[in-house]
Amino acid sequence: MADIAPSSGASARKPLYEARPAPAGPCNALPMPKITYIDSEGTTRTVEGEVGATVMETAIKNNVPGIEAECGGACACATCHVYVDDAWRAVVGEPSPMEEDMLDFGFDVRPSSRLSCQIKVTDELDGLVLRTPERQA
Ligand code: FES
Repeated sequence: MADIAPSSGASARKPLYEARPAPAGPCNALPMPKITYIDSEGTTRTVEGEVGATVMETAIKNNVPGIEAECGGACACATCHVYVDDAWRAVVGEPSPMEEDMLDFGFDVRPSSRLSCQIKVTDELDGLVLRTPERQA
């Protein structure tokens, strides 16, 4: 049978386990940015978005109606079309040329139109307000 007692030189050895920072969890997690989706009938849904996810992914994860996302976020379908509230347009930014091209296929496109799969959730977008069109393309 093996002797499991430490030998006399055990304290000089490298420890088997080293302390690591506590993983992120409910006790030390940062607040998540809140995003409000308003549908064409005026129903408001506010959900928490994960930083790094897209506004489209956040909608799908939270069962927000009005965003279909048929291409899964590849900027190839325009069924994730949203209107960015005027107060947020400068923060959200303008669409890329590729997104603008795809928006041409959207329904009732306006100057505030964006494809929600092309908007990344950041801490700066906490409080973002979006509207979904009457229907997707
Ligand atoms: S999910 Fe298809 S363009 Fe956004």
